[in-house]
Amino acid sequence: MNDHSKPQPATARKSGPLSGKARLPGDKSISHRAFMFGGLASGVTRITGLLEGEDVLRTGEAMKAMGARIEHNGAEWVVQGTGNGCLLEPAQPLDFGNAGTGVRLTMGLVGPYDMKTRFIGDPSLSKRPMGRVLDPLREMGTQVLEAEPGDRLPITLRGPKHAAPVSYRVPMPSAQVKSAVLLAGLNTPGVTTVIEPVMTRDHTEKMLAGFGAALEVEIDAEGVRHIRIEGQGRLQGQVIAVPGDPSSAGFPLVAALIVPGSDITIENVLMNPTRTGLILTLQEMGADIELMNRRSAGGEDVADLRVRSSELKGVRVPPERAPSMIDEYPVLAVAACFAEGETLMEGLEELRVKESDRLSAVANGLKANGVDCTEGETTLSVHGAPEGKGLGGGTVETHLDHRIAMSFLILGLATEKPVTVDDRAMIATSFPEFMGLMADLGAEIE
Ligand code: S3P
Repeated sequence: MNDHSKPQPATARKSGPLSGKARLPGDKSISHRAFMFGGLASGVTRITGLLEGEDVLRTGEAMKAMGARIEHNGAEWVVQGTGNGCLLEPAQPLDFGNAGTGVRLTMGLVGPYDMKTRFIGDPSLSKRPMGRVLDPLREMGTQVLEAEPGDRLPITLRGPKHAAPVSYRVPMPSAQVKSAVLLAGLNTPGVTTVIEPVMTRDHTEKMLAGFGAALEVEIDAEGVRHIRIEGQGRLQGQVIAVPGDPSSAGFPLVAALIVPGSDITIENVLMNPTRTGLILTLQEMGADIELMNRRSAGGEDVADLRVRSSELKGVRVPPERAPSMIDEYPVLAVAACFAEGETLMEGLEELRVKESDRLSAVANGLKANGVDCTEGETTLSVHGAPEGKGLGGGTVETHLDHRIAMSFLILGLATEKPVTVDDRAMIATSFPEFMGLMADLGAEIE
C-alpha cells in the first residue's frame, strides 16, 4: 500500500486532442464481491480483470485473515474459499483503508458469526457513518462492542449464538446497505428479506445467485424490489471475468468530450443499467458517445465507447437518476463547466457521506477555479463557460478522495489555466493506472 503520509500534488494543463484506445481496470464493486464471495465459497474461484487497487486488495487481505487462500498467478487471481459459515476469527483488526464498500459489506458478512471482529480504516473512512449497516445487524442479534460516537470506526462486532433473520426496508438508496444485510443473511437460518424501494447496483444479487445462493427477487406492484435469501446454503466457487469499471470510464470519457478535437475509444466498459446514468446524462447534454461492439460477458452487458469532443449544453439531472451515477457527479460537474447554460443536479444527499463530503468538495474546487456554481443542501448548479475561457488557476483540496482528485485533473485538461490538486495519492485506491492511461491518450498531467 502507498505511504499516504506526505501529500503528492499533481497539475493538469490544457492539452492537445486526445486520441487512442483506453483499457480500463476492472469494476471496483464487482472486484470487491469477487474476493468476498470467492473467499466464502467452497472450492476455487478464478478471477481475471480484477481491479488491483488498494481498496480491493484490502478486501482480499481481510478474507485471508478470516481463512481464505488467495494467490496471484499471472493475470489470474485464484481464491480458495472457506465454505459458507466457516470464516475464522481474525487475529488482528481488519484494516479497510479508504474503502467504504469493503468495510460495510464485510461487517454484514461477519455480523452473524459468533466471533469478535474489529474494523479500522483511514481518517476518511473513520468519519463515515456505519450506523446504516449496524442498525439492521443489531436487529439480527449482532452486538456492537465498540464504536466511536455516531457509529464510526474503529468498530468491534460480536455475532450472536443464533442470528435471527429479518425483513429490512433499506431507508436510503444504498447498495452497500442492501448488500450488507444480504451477506448477513447468508449465514443466518431461514429467509432474510431486503426491501429496496429505489433500485441500486445489483451486483450482489447477480453474483450471489451465480455462486449458487438461494436468492430470489420479486418486484411488487409499486415497483419496490423484495430480495429474499435463504441462509446457510452452499456456495460454489466460480470463474469470473471482471468487466471495466464504468465509474473509472467517466474520467477519460469526459476528458475526450471537453478537449477539442479528441477521438478516443474506451474498451470493455460494464453497461449494467444500474451504472450507466452518466452516459445517459452526457448524451442528453449532446455528447457524441457511440456504443460499439455490445456484448454479454460473464452475465453482464459490456461495450466499447467511442467518444469524440462535443459541444455540450446544460441539462437538469433528476434526483431519481442519482443511484445509477452516484459516484459520477464530480466528473459530470466538470463536463458541466464546458456546457452552454446551466446544469442542475438534484437529489445529491448521499454525496455528503462519500469518501469526502463530495458536494462541498466539488463546489469548492470549482469555485477555486473560477467556475460559476451554487451548492444547495442536496443540489449543485453549474453555469458553463464553453471552451473553458477564464477558468482554472486554482488548487483543489481533495480530502483523501480519489474521485475528487481525478475529476479536477480532468478539468485542468481543458481550462485556460492549469488546475492543481493537493494530493494524487488516493487515486491508487480505485484507478492505479489513471496517470499512465491519461498520458497515453495525450493528457498533460504531472
Ligand atoms: C458501492 C455502492 C455505492 C457506491 C460505492 C460502491 C457498492 O455506495 O458509492 O462506490 O459497491 O456497493 P452506497 O451504497 O453508499 O451508495
